[in-house]
Amino acid sequence: MTEKRLPLPDKDLQAFAAKAGTPFHIYDGRAIRQNAMDMLSAFSWADGFVNYFAVKALPNVNIVRLLGQCGFGADCSSLPELLIAKEAGIPGERIMFSSNDTPDEEFEEAFRLGAIINLDDITHIDDVIRVCGRLPETISFRYNPGRERTGNAIIGNPVEAKYGVTHDQLLECYRKASENGARRFMLHTMVASNELNEDYIAETARMVFSLVDEIRSKTGIRIEQVDLGGGIGIPYRPEDTAISFSHLSERIHELYSSMIEAKGLAPLRISFECGRCITGPYGWLISRVRHVAHKYKDYVGLDACMADLMRPALYGAYHHITAIGKEDQPRDHVYDVTGSLCENNDKFAIDRPLPLIERGDLLAIHDTGAHGHSMGFSYNAKLRHAEYLIEDDGIYCIRRAETYEDYIRTQLSEPKLMR
Ligand SMILES: Cc1ncc(COP(=O)(O)O)c(C=O)c1O
Repeated sequence: MTEKRLPLPDKDLQAFAAKAGTPFHIYDGRAIRQNAMDMLSAFSWADGFVNYFAVKALPNVNIVRLLGQCGFGADCSSLPELLIAKEAGIPGERIMFSSNDTPDEEFEEAFRLGAIINLDDITHIDDVIRVCGRLPETISFRYNPGRERTGNAIIGNPVEAKYGVTHDQLLECYRKASENGARRFMLHTMVASNELNEDYIAETARMVFSLVDEIRSKTGIRIEQVDLGGGIGIPYRPEDTAISFSHLSERIHELYSSMIEAKGLAPLRISFECGRCITGPYGWLISRVRHVAHKYKDYVGLDACMADLMRPALYGAYHHITAIGKEDQPRDHVYDVTGSLCENNDKFAIDRPLPLIERGDLLAIHDTGAHGHSMGFSYNAKLRHAEYLIEDDGIYCIRRAETYEDYIRTQLSEPKLMR
């Protein structure tokens, strides 16, 4: 079970919402920092352990900087994400560039920054050489285990996934990279998303450790670092239980002792690129009830919409909802909680038991600190909303709300003749 807490006492949240205007995402910087430190401390046995925070989860430079100050790196998948990491002061060697179908200019920027380039396909070796003149000294490959693993609902079955190289290609990749001047080698995989089963993550470590051994024996190449990907889940539902970093770490430590140290493959640095489990539980979408409508079903219409949080519409994902100030009232009404998009799947919850909801009530949608604001979009010309960060000394605006002028800026009121 997981307690669904709010970032501030009800009265303070009400007052802040009245002052700032709704809707907005708000993050608890103190809790994010503590969580990051807990992860690092759980893996303190692993020399050089790093979590490259998946920038895609919460691409706000203030958050990436905060995590960088805790000792995290950044996992980037695009040029803008690389630039966010740079802006946040993350040094190149702590940037993991894990992209796919990668444009030349992204390889170029990653190379310039001295980021670790994690290749998604064997043909990308030639791309990097063509674009950057040579391979970087350190190179990583993303492994797709195919039928060896099952994947899960969000990430899909590995055999169907576009990501990563096959088992046979992997050995060929290291041989080819070595022939072309790479001297330091890493191995990456990402086979689960929002996974709450610790066994699954431990199995990934086992799979990767066994590959390190195989690569050494079949190619003579020593892998210096493994990246076990992101994908550690969070308890979106109150009845879910979070993965314990310390327990997971113990499991991986045991595997490390028997599969790496005992076989003379140490030292091997361990890394993750988790986003969701770092910031997810420490973000909330705060939104006000605009209408309560009684049709064939009862609807609560919010001033936020799926453009602010698309996970429920995209994956049918559950996000807990608290009616602020009504926590002690019985959840004896059932509502669909909707936004205002011209899309019937613009719903944060379907058939959700809640207390009696009235116009003007303030709702908190929980666990929006990862893949929340960042997955937003602008359909119906919806403007993107603000993000705030709670620190010990106050609440900071870390992204102002978009204005109509921002939205219209890229449109040309006088069309430009192109040919
Ligand atoms: C390559 C890669 N790394 C890391 C992540 C972060 O995953 P999570 O935020 O679930 O930990 C993702 C998520 O899509 C990803 O695609």
